Amino acid sequence: MTRLLLDAHSPAQRSRLERFAATECVDMHCHCLPGVDDGPATVGEAIELCNALVADGVTTVIATPHQLGRFDSTLTADDIRHAVVELSAALSARGIPLVVEAGADVRVDERIPALLDAGRLVTLADSGRYLLLELPHDTFINIQPLLAEIVARGVTPVLSHPERNVFLARRPEAMSPWLEGGALLQVTAASLLGHFGPLAEQVAWHWLATGAAALVASDAHDAAARRPCMTQATEAIARRLGEPAARRVCVLNPALLLDGEPVRAARHVFRHRNPR
Ligand SMILES: [Fe+2]
Repeated sequence: MTRLLLDAHSPAQRSRLERFAATECVDMHCHCLPGVDDGPATVGEAIELCNALVADGVTTVIATPHQLGRFDSTLTADDIRHAVVELSAALSARGIPLVVEAGADVRVDERIPALLDAGRLVTLADSGRYLLLELPHDTFINIQPLLAEIVARGVTPVLSHPERNVFLARRPEAMSPWLEGGALLQVTAASLLGHFGPLAEQVAWHWLATGAAALVASDAHDAAARRPCMTQATEAIARRLGEPAARRVCVLNPALLLDGEPVRAARHVFRHRNPR
């Protein structure tokens, strides 16, 4: 795994690393590859987003373009790996201190177990240990059987921003069996700051406060409306839930995930039926 040399870090990266006594600050969900999904359209826009990540204190980003769903059959695992190599070369040519690893934000689909077996999906950091799964935003699907099949393959499913699913935001207890079955929750930094509305904000905080959410990521798509805001979210978590909680979900767990090490939520059981 590539790591930046210590003296290559930007001031924002250095300050975040020093504050959390970390060797890297990982954003494990970001649409930073150019021309592959609804992230940056060009290399120039991808570089702008990568500069925004560096200014946000991120040292390593897992590039997670959409696979399946509306990007069905257009983006292969090797396309993603190739795009990561190209973006890494463009960053290095410009002296931008950011490590990029391959991953994907995979839309929930019954074909996932077979596609995993065939090596056609990209796991996070290509480690074969974690698969980022995106639920539809407006409908409820019981994904428990799918999660069980993924777990049976030694892969841990990570649910990306379930706070943006209207049903789950209103009935978060529906996810309890999924979490008890081994899935992890990732909430989006911008949700905690209210960028996706009050319901997503409230339930994202509820999942952090109850220990159900193990990871916070940017899910950034550009350097403007959907820019990375990990530093702002980390500060907000430190203020509301304390420094150790902020360190765990924003720095420690994303780094463990990057290295393919076990990540655990603080608590998997929802104590309240509804956050409101
Ligand atoms: Fe995403």
